[in-house]
Amino acid sequence: MDRTFVIAKPDAVERGLAGEILARLERKGLRLVAAELRTITTETATAHYAEHDGKPFFADLVAFITRSPSLLLVVEGPEETWKVVRTMMGTTNPRDAAPGTIRGDYGTVLTENLVHGSDGPESADREIALFFPEL
Ligand code: RTP
Ligand code: MG
Repeated sequence: MDRTFVIAKPDAVERGLAGEILARLERKGLRLVAAELRTITTETATAHYAEHDGKPFFADLVAFITRSPSLLLVVEGPEETWKVVRTMMGTTNPRDAAPGTIRGDYGTVLTENLVHGSDGPESADREIALFFPEL
Protein backbone atom coordinates (compact mmCIF):
# COMPACT_ATOMS: atom_id res chain seq x y z
CA MET A 1 0.00 0.00 0.00
CA ASP A 2 1.04 3.58 -0.66
CA ARG A 3 1.05 6.15 2.14
CA THR A 4 0.81 9.91 2.30
CA PHE A 5 0.79 12.60 4.98
CA VAL A 6 -2.14 14.94 5.68
CA ILE A 7 -2.67 17.81 8.12
CA ALA A 8 -6.09 19.10 9.14
CA LYS A 9 -4.61 22.54 9.89
CA PRO A 10 -5.30 24.72 12.97
CA ASP A 11 -8.16 26.56 11.22
CA ALA A 12 -9.87 23.22 10.48
CA VAL A 13 -9.60 22.03 14.09
CA GLU A 14 -10.72 25.43 15.42
CA ARG A 15 -13.79 25.33 13.17
CA GLY A 16 -14.70 21.74 14.06
CA LEU A 17 -13.91 20.43 10.58
CA ALA A 18 -11.15 17.94 11.41
CA GLY A 19 -13.61 15.06 11.63
CA GLU A 20 -15.20 16.06 8.33
CA ILE A 21 -11.81 16.04 6.61
CA LEU A 22 -10.92 12.63 8.04
CA ALA A 23 -14.38 11.28 7.15
CA ARG A 24 -14.00 12.39 3.54
CA LEU A 25 -10.65 10.61 3.23
CA GLU A 26 -12.08 7.44 4.76
CA ARG A 27 -15.20 7.50 2.60
CA LYS A 28 -13.00 7.86 -0.47
CA GLY A 29 -11.44 4.51 0.44
CA LEU A 30 -8.22 5.56 2.14
CA ARG A 31 -7.31 3.74 5.33
CA LEU A 32 -6.14 5.49 8.47
CA VAL A 33 -2.59 4.47 9.49
CA ALA A 34 -1.82 7.14 12.13
CA ALA A 35 -3.65 10.08 13.70
CA GLU A 36 -2.62 12.55 16.39
CA LEU A 37 -3.89 15.91 17.60
CA ARG A 38 -0.67 17.88 18.08
CA THR A 39 0.44 21.49 18.23
CA ILE A 40 3.24 21.59 15.67
CA THR A 41 6.43 23.17 17.02
CA THR A 42 8.18 26.05 15.26
CA GLU A 43 11.17 23.76 14.65
CA THR A 44 9.06 21.08 12.98
CA ALA A 45 7.07 23.66 10.99
CA THR A 46 10.29 25.22 9.70
CA ALA A 47 11.55 21.81 8.56
CA HIS A 48 8.18 20.85 7.07
CA TYR A 49 7.87 24.05 5.02
CA ALA A 50 11.63 24.35 4.24
CA GLU A 51 10.87 24.79 0.52
CA HIS A 52 9.22 28.13 1.38
CA ASP A 53 12.01 29.42 3.67
CA GLY A 54 12.99 32.92 2.53
CA LYS A 55 9.66 33.73 0.87
CA PRO A 56 7.80 36.82 2.14
CA PHE A 57 4.94 34.74 3.62
CA PHE A 58 7.16 32.21 5.42
CA ALA A 59 6.96 33.73 8.93
CA ASP A 60 3.17 34.05 8.72
CA LEU A 61 2.91 30.48 7.43
CA VAL A 62 4.91 29.10 10.37
CA ALA A 63 2.93 31.23 12.85
CA PHE A 64 -0.33 29.96 11.39
CA ILE A 65 0.52 26.26 11.36
CA THR A 66 1.80 26.40 14.97
CA ARG A 67 -0.96 28.58 16.49
CA SER A 68 -3.15 25.75 17.85
CA PRO A 69 -3.46 21.96 17.49
CA SER A 70 -3.57 20.26 14.12
CA LEU A 71 -4.85 16.77 13.35
CA LEU A 72 -1.87 14.92 11.83
CA LEU A 73 -2.76 11.97 9.64
CA VAL A 74 -1.07 9.21 7.68
CA VAL A 75 -3.42 7.49 5.22
CA GLU A 76 -2.89 4.73 2.72
CA GLY A 77 -4.41 3.51 -0.52
CA PRO A 78 -3.47 1.24 -3.42
CA GLU A 79 -1.32 3.71 -5.38
CA GLU A 80 -0.47 7.43 -5.76
CA THR A 81 -2.31 8.20 -2.55
CA TRP A 82 -0.68 11.66 -2.40
CA LYS A 83 -2.43 12.49 -5.70
CA VAL A 84 -5.80 11.20 -4.51
CA VAL A 85 -5.55 13.47 -1.47
CA ARG A 86 -4.33 16.53 -3.44
CA THR A 87 -7.31 16.17 -5.80
CA MET A 88 -9.69 15.99 -2.86
CA MET A 89 -8.07 19.09 -1.27
CA GLY A 90 -8.55 21.43 -4.24
CA THR A 91 -6.28 24.28 -5.35
CA THR A 92 -4.07 26.10 -2.82
CA ASN A 93 -6.27 29.22 -2.84
CA PRO A 94 -9.76 28.21 -1.65
CA ARG A 95 -11.19 31.07 -3.67
CA ASP A 96 -10.29 29.15 -6.83
CA ALA A 97 -10.96 25.65 -5.51
CA ALA A 98 -13.75 23.66 -7.12
CA PRO A 99 -16.91 22.86 -5.17
CA GLY A 100 -16.73 19.31 -3.92
CA THR A 101 -13.12 19.73 -2.80
CA ILE A 102 -12.26 20.38 0.85
CA ARG A 103 -10.89 23.86 0.19
CA GLY A 104 -13.66 24.59 -2.32
CA ASP A 105 -16.40 23.66 0.11
CA TYR A 106 -15.06 25.17 3.35
CA GLY A 107 -12.44 27.87 2.64
CA THR A 108 -12.36 31.47 1.46
CA VAL A 109 -8.79 32.71 2.04
CA LEU A 110 -5.36 31.52 0.90
CA THR A 111 -3.72 31.61 4.32
CA GLU A 112 -6.46 29.56 6.02
CA ASN A 113 -6.90 26.69 3.61
CA LEU A 114 -7.75 23.91 6.06
CA VAL A 115 -5.63 21.06 4.85
CA HIS A 116 -2.13 20.01 3.83
CA GLY A 117 -1.27 17.01 1.70
CA SER A 118 2.15 15.86 0.51
CA ASP A 119 2.84 17.03 -3.06
CA GLY A 120 4.57 13.86 -4.30
CA PRO A 121 5.95 10.48 -3.24
CA GLU A 122 9.26 11.91 -1.98
CA SER A 123 7.46 14.59 0.05
CA ALA A 124 5.19 11.92 1.51
CA ASP A 125 8.16 9.83 2.67
CA ARG A 126 9.98 12.87 4.08
CA GLU A 127 6.93 14.24 5.91
CA ILE A 128 5.86 10.89 7.39
CA ALA A 129 9.41 10.48 8.73
CA LEU A 130 9.39 14.04 10.14
CA PHE A 131 6.03 13.81 11.95
CA PHE A 132 5.80 10.09 12.70
CA PRO A 133 9.40 8.79 12.97
CA GLU A 134 8.12 5.60 14.60
CA LEU A 135 6.51 4.62 11.27
P1 RTP B 1 0.26 22.97 1.70
O1 RTP B 1 1.74 22.78 1.48
O2 RTP B 1 -0.05 23.72 2.95
O3 RTP B 1 -0.47 21.68 1.56
O4 RTP B 1 -0.33 23.86 0.52
P2 RTP B 1 0.00 23.78 -1.02
O5 RTP B 1 0.97 22.68 -1.31
O6 RTP B 1 -1.30 23.75 -1.75
O7 RTP B 1 0.67 25.20 -1.26
P3 RTP B 1 2.20 25.64 -1.10
O8 RTP B 1 2.61 26.31 -2.36
O9 RTP B 1 3.04 24.50 -0.59
O10 RTP B 1 2.11 26.76 0.02
C1 RTP B 1 2.08 26.41 1.39
C2 RTP B 1 1.07 27.27 2.10
O11 RTP B 1 1.55 28.61 2.13
C3 RTP B 1 0.46 29.50 2.13
N1 RTP B 1 0.74 30.56 1.20
N2 RTP B 1 0.65 31.81 1.54
N3 RTP B 1 0.66 34.63 1.51
C4 RTP B 1 1.00 33.97 0.41
O12 RTP B 1 1.32 34.52 -0.61
C5 RTP B 1 0.98 32.52 0.45
N4 RTP B 1 1.28 31.71 -0.54
C6 RTP B 1 1.13 30.45 -0.06
C7 RTP B 1 -0.78 28.75 1.73
O13 RTP B 1 -1.67 28.73 2.84
C8 RTP B 1 -0.28 27.35 1.41
O14 RTP B 1 -1.14 26.35 1.89
MG1 MG C 1 2.80 22.45 -0.28
